[in-house]
Amino acid sequence: MCVFSAMFWILVLLLGVLPSTLQHEEYGKFSYANNILSFQEVSTTDGVSEIVHEEDGLDPKPPSIFERTSISKVFLLNRNLTAIQEGTFNGFGSLKVLNLDENLISHIPERVFDGLDSLMVISFKRNQLEQFKIVSSSVRSLHLSKNLLKKVTNEMFANTPSIEILNLHGNILEELEPLAFSSLGDLKSLTLSNNRIKTLPDDIFVHCPEIVNLYLEDNQLKALGGSFQPLKHLITLFLQNNKIAEVDSRAFHNLKDLNTLDLSNNSLVTLHEAVFKHLDQLGELLLQNNQIEDLPDAIFGDLSKLSRLLLNGNKITSLQADIFQGLRELRNLKLGNNQIRSLVKGSFTGLDRCYDLDLTKNNLSRLKTDVFTGLKSLEQLILNENELSEVDVGAFNGLDLLYIISLENAKIQTLDALAEMGGLQIIALRGTKFQNDTELRVGSKLYKVNTYQTWVLA
Ligand SMILES: *[C@@H]1O[C@H](CO)[C@@H](O)[C@H](O)[C@H]1NC(C)=O
Ligand SMILES: *[C@@H]1O[C@H](CO)[C@@H](O)[C@H](O)[C@H]1NC(C)=O
Ligand SMILES: *[C@@H]1O[C@H](CO)[C@@H](O)[C@H](O)[C@H]1NC(C)=O
Ligand SMILES: *[C@@H]1O[C@H](CO)[C@@H](O)[C@H](O)[C@H]1NC(C)=O
Repeated sequence: MCVFSAMFWILVLLLGVLPSTLQHEEYGKFSYANNILSFQEVSTTDGVSEIVHEEDGLDPKPPSIFERTSISKVFLLNRNLTAIQEGTFNGFGSLKVLNLDENLISHIPERVFDGLDSLMVISFKRNQLEQFKIVSSSVRSLHLSKNLLKKVTNEMFANTPSIEILNLHGNILEELEPLAFSSLGDLKSLTLSNNRIKTLPDDIFVHCPEIVNLYLEDNQLKALGGSFQPLKHLITLFLQNNKIAEVDSRAFHNLKDLNTLDLSNNSLVTLHEAVFKHLDQLGELLLQNNQIEDLPDAIFGDLSKLSRLLLNGNKITSLQADIFQGLRELRNLKLGNNQIRSLVKGSFTGLDRCYDLDLTKNNLSRLKTDVFTGLKSLEQLILNENELSEVDVGAFNGLDLLYIISLENAKIQTLDALAEMGGLQIIALRGTKFQNDTELRVGSKLYKVNTYQTWVLA
């Protein structure tokens, strides 16, 4: 009897007596009064529901009542919110994702996320933040793009040590204080694109050796020094659309894992001969739209994995022999829009795997015998918009796999140089003296024009 009575009371305790008396204050709803976000407790459990995902930003429904300890995601986009009230997220112990994009928020209380140990993602894209400073030991992903931040201060991220992804795209950042990222030892992706950053402090990344992706495009950088040296795991480095004119010879030397380096649309005139040394893993080097005048010997010598090299839109006047030696894996070489006046025998040696070479809009007037040797995998050769008037027989020697040649607007008088090219299927000749021919005889082969004004092997 005694035993049964004890078990009865244990069961009563386990089954619900405690829960039903404790729960009430865990329920509530968001309030948007005066465009300030706050949480209001309610003492009923009626109408409890999960917060709906509102990624489209439109929610005509009245605010739902919910149990704050159970909520894992909050999406409150596009509601004209201007601030968050202190204490709004107290007790949101399960909150993982908070998205307040596209509001007008200019003030966030520093401790409003403190203690929310599950919080992983915070997003405040497209708000009005001029200042930002929060405490969160758990947040991994922080999105602050399209706000009004002018400066990354030493304190801004001092209390968010777990951040792995930080996005500051499209603010008005002019300055990064030297210790701006010094607490972010786990940082993997840093986006600083589309700001007004003029200089990078030399030690800015010293404490963030894990960065893999670094986006610095669309800024006002003029020179690159030693800032990237600690970034031993960097894979992508975007520096396009800046004003970079000077690059220290060792700027990229420790970036052993770097796969993509984009320096396009800058103001580079000269490149140091050692600037691309040690970039063993580089796959893509983008140098188009600069003012580069010449390429130092062996500048690409270490780039044995490079598959894409874009040099179009520069001021290169010549390509010396062996300049591309070492680029064993290169597939794609763009040299259009330069001022190359002549090619020499050996200009393209070493490019065993290159299948696409573009020399559009240069100043080539003559192609001498053997200038393309080395390009034994080349399938497509584009020579449009040159003043090309002389093509020596033997100019295309070695191009055993060439499939397409484009000579639009060239001043060529004969096609004799193409006669020996066994695999040639397509010849583009718009704007040449052959443009009105419907059929072309090249050696023993006959090509017929198609509707795209290219001549195809019949
Ligand atoms: C936000 O403000 C605009 C302009 O005053 C108004 O048209 C819009 O309905 C408001 N949106 C919400 C969700 O209150
Ligand atoms: C190059 O940069 C200029 C300004 O620096 C910009 O206006 C232009 O759109 C950029 N070009 C490309 C292709 O991004
Ligand atoms: C290349 O051709 C352009 C246009 O014809 C001309 O303005 C330029 O001076 C030439 N450059 C060289 C290096 O010959
Ligand atoms: C091709 O034909 C057009 C139109 O008949 C003519 O104006 C042009 O001069 C011709 N071009 C050549 C290279 O013969």
